[in-house]
Amino acid sequence: MTGTSATPDPLIERRDRAFGRGAKLFYDEPLHLVRGQGANLFGADGRRYVDMYNNVPCVGHAHPRIVEAMARQQATLNTHSRYLSEPAIALAERLTALQRVTDSAVFSCSGTEAIEVALRMARIATGQHGIVCTDHTYHGNNTVVGALTNLPAGDTRHPAIRSIPFPETLRPLVPGEASADAYIARLKAAIDDLKSTGLGFAALILCPILANEGLPDIPPGFMAKAAALVRAEGGLVIADEVQAGYGRTGQWWGYDKVGLTPDIVVTGKPMGAGLPLAATCAKRDVVEAFRAEARYFNTFAASPLQGAVGLAVLDVIEEEGLIDHARTVGAELKAGLQQRLGHTPGLLDVRCKGLFLAAEFVDADGNPDAPRAFALVCALRREGFLTSVDGAFNNCVKIRPPLVLPREDALAFLDAFDRVTASA
Ligand SMILES: Cc1ncc(COP(=O)(O)O)c(C=O)c1O
Repeated sequence: MTGTSATPDPLIERRDRAFGRGAKLFYDEPLHLVRGQGANLFGADGRRYVDMYNNVPCVGHAHPRIVEAMARQQATLNTHSRYLSEPAIALAERLTALQRVTDSAVFSCSGTEAIEVALRMARIATGQHGIVCTDHTYHGNNTVVGALTNLPAGDTRHPAIRSIPFPETLRPLVPGEASADAYIARLKAAIDDLKSTGLGFAALILCPILANEGLPDIPPGFMAKAAALVRAEGGLVIADEVQAGYGRTGQWWGYDKVGLTPDIVVTGKPMGAGLPLAATCAKRDVVEAFRAEARYFNTFAASPLQGAVGLAVLDVIEEEGLIDHARTVGAELKAGLQQRLGHTPGLLDVRCKGLFLAAEFVDADGNPDAPRAFALVCALRREGFLTSVDGAFNNCVKIRPPLVLPREDALAFLDAFDRVTASA
């Protein structure tokens, strides 16, 4: 039985003790899951829930090809990276060929690790230290990478990090002016500031679709102008594709969707369909400079198991045509939600990149309405659809299902959206 405020699930108490209180759970009524298949999750309450949130199982929960690849490789050979073995090499070759802009890969076990590798790589390649990020971002959780999290523009707490306001057209930096120029000026000022401290400028890091910022519509030309400025200033562009990559946007990479050419590409979450697997890819000289200086070793990374599972994920995405499917179903969801603009109270904006959507809610005064977004997400969960909240104000319903989401479930979601927005 799923917990309610009247009958708390005993598992919550055990969890609090086992993990220590403070480990966040989704929803006002936390959900106890026992099984997943495709885009479905099954609760201990016996109910089916449509997974509209998880991108790690981008090929679908418990995909038999992934399970088989995992079991076969583990039953055959799994060691670390200091022996010759085929699978991880083949994965690096295939991944970089798909990315086109990179040659070589450093594998790791989480997005955080892969971002940290990217930062070190950029610092080694440029001989400079300063990093620019956006102000409502999240790139990971360790001390170095976590310092980039939600760092207000102008904050100088971390000497080698500056943030700039994330570019958007909805609430532009200069009211009424949805152009890229004001944001580019802030980027230039951040770079100049880093240079003036003597730490120099190594890289701009961003998620190409600004996923954690709430998937804003980006002023036209921002990405190309930003990349040109970064290069003119001697820095590198790091694309964090941990959420944006692997077909999410209806193209392989978020940077293709937004017209950005990165120097370093970081991938994670969906790469291993649940097996911890992440990568930092760049041109060969950049990777080799990093390897020479960092002597990087990561016990579980670049293993035969990571290679075999990573290859199976790429096979499934390609053979099942999941990117085309994501584009089609995403377009249908987008059209459906946009039809509701002007009819659904509080619904301010609907944004979409492939099969990744954000529905933004405001109150009667037009201010961000985070409590409403949370209430809707909880009501959707009771309707059997799992989403979450996101965005700079936590006032967006975040819709980011496995790429295999069936069209019928997407249409049923729109009906549920109508029911919950009418009552919550
Ligand atoms: C854009 C982005 N980058 C990096 C990370 C960190 O990945 P991980 O949790 O695997 O360390 C996340 C995690 O949510 C993310 O959303």
